[in-house]
Amino acid sequence: MAKTYAIAIDGPAGAGKSTIAKRLAKELGYHYVDTGAIYRTVAYFMDLLGVSPKDSDGVERYIDELTIQIEYDEEGKQHMLMNGMDVTDEIRTQDISQKASLVSAQPVVREVLLDMQRDVAKAHNVIMDGRDIGTVVLPKADVKIFLTATPEVRAKRRCDELLAKGQKVNYEQVLKDIIQRDYQDTHREIAPLKLARDSVKVDTSELDIDGVIAAIEAIIKEKIPV
Ligand code: DC
Repeated sequence: MAKTYAIAIDGPAGAGKSTIAKRLAKELGYHYVDTGAIYRTVAYFMDLLGVSPKDSDGVERYIDELTIQIEYDEEGKQHMLMNGMDVTDEIRTQDISQKASLVSAQPVVREVLLDMQRDVAKAHNVIMDGRDIGTVVLPKADVKIFLTATPEVRAKRRCDELLAKGQKVNYEQVLKDIIQRDYQDTHREIAPLKLARDSVKVDTSELDIDGVIAAIEAIIKEKIPV
């Protein structure tokens, strides 16, 4: 099999990972994989069943009933299928963000999703974003970026994103949720969010999208023949 290249973009919620990864994927002709969406789909499924994301027995009992597929439309947008049903939009609420963070701490969930993510990277050149891509999922990724920004900047971005989708937002609440999610995602026992040893940290607090893209392109050019 031909060598495939992998670019891992990890970082906390709202750092701009998906916006940046999507644009880079288009430019490079790589597959973009938003791994947070996979955890969100698990959270949404458990929520529909009335299983708490903290209930490890319940999550373990029902996880086998869930089949997740990742599909891409003509514009390259990633769609999440939950037992065949497209839930791409349903998983983008504040409530599901919190529940995804909690359910993602369950060992059985991380175990089931690990192979799924690795399989995509075996078959395609990928830009994968998440929390543990450079540390656990693809430890041999060719490029590892840790994208971050202050909680306040990230909360403002998340508010703008939700507003654009017509959802009601309260900045203070979004900020509180982000700080709580940061805590949960960095303190869980398995695959917590942390900087990989060979990862390059990019702080986007003071940069616009073009600035971030330029910074990352320079890092990629050093490591991958593009
Ligand atoms: O990137 P996101 O906000 O859509 O992710 C939702 C949650 O999923 C996040 O708070 C933690 C979890 N997650 C994870 O544990 N590992 C990943 N690789 C991606 C997301």
